[in-house]
Amino acid sequence: MTTEEETIEQHSEDRTEELERTEELERELNSSESPYHVTDPVLSLIGDTPLIKYPRSGKESLHIKLEMKNPTGSMKDRIALGMVLEMRQLGKINANDLIVEASSGNTAGSVSLVANRLGYDCVITIPESTSKQKSGYIESFGSELIKCPNVGSNHRDHYRNKAKRISNKRDGVILDQYHNQLNPQVHEKWTAPELWEQTNNLTHVVCPMGTGGTISGIGKYMSEKDDTIEIIGVDAEHSNISTAFHNEDLVEYDTSIEGLGKECESPTMWFEYIDSIISVSDETAVSWTKRAAMEDGLLIGTSTGAALKVAYEISERIDDSSVVVIACDSGNQYFETITA
Ligand SMILES: Cc1ncc(COP(=O)(O)O)c(C=O)c1O
Repeated sequence: MTTEEETIEQHSEDRTEELERTEELERELNSSESPYHVTDPVLSLIGDTPLIKYPRSGKESLHIKLEMKNPTGSMKDRIALGMVLEMRQLGKINANDLIVEASSGNTAGSVSLVANRLGYDCVITIPESTSKQKSGYIESFGSELIKCPNVGSNHRDHYRNKAKRISNKRDGVILDQYHNQLNPQVHEKWTAPELWEQTNNLTHVVCPMGTGGTISGIGKYMSEKDDTIEIIGVDAEHSNISTAFHNEDLVEYDTSIEGLGKECESPTMWFEYIDSIISVSDETAVSWTKRAAMEDGLLIGTSTGAALKVAYEISERIDDSSVVVIACDSGNQYFETITA
């Protein structure tokens, strides 16, 4: 090899090394570090979800955080992983324990995935009305699926009561997203700082509420960063999150919007960090979900459709606002509703 050829080869090696270093640096800058660092290649896909501008011209002040980019398609992957890791650290879950959870929604798939990857046996109880799109994850990841009749929450066969009995009988551990403070705490530790890093001059966060975990964790974190940021929860019309928040009489809980609303207040709703709660009817939630798909090419779940309506109107009404709406899951779980 001539000296000239050697020099060219050296230059090219230097250039490759420099490019690799730049790429590594860019990767580090673009991804906020997860507090739940795992080496597992599947579980490490959880979190670091994109925040995009709402895809409509003139809507620069509205952004949407795409939690459907988590491996099972919702933000519940975060709490499943975070709660199990925290409970392991606290000695509440040990090797070979049986994990039990009651869920009619996205949490079922998330817990099943986490149990599969971390090597735990897992039982999930669901009401028999749960859609195949949601229950499919449970069986696919090898969890035991127990279908319970659609009865009221006081009935012994209600899916949450059944989970308790199974856990007692088989010495299992229930994660209990409706009571476990780790649910909002995981969002406070993970989702909220990630969102903070992705935004500038944030003024409003809008989020659908079920357990209240997502918005409570985000609300607490934001209140410490900048307490002028308004935290707005979205509830179903016939639901008792907003009645509890406003000290009103209970109503009969009734909605077809999956994940939205609840029969009663639960301790995972940290009302002190929520500025307002707005109720949205099922029809409005569905029409905004359809509109987002048809007019904006954005496939969101119906609870997100409800939140989008609220976020969109704030961004129209308030000059200089910078609004983020949390997209809890994707429309691909609700094609029957969206295309009806
Ligand atoms: C689709 C969907 N939207 C909204 C929510 C509410 O989220 P959170 O329970 O954190 O309040 C859930 C929770 O199950 C959900 O599955």
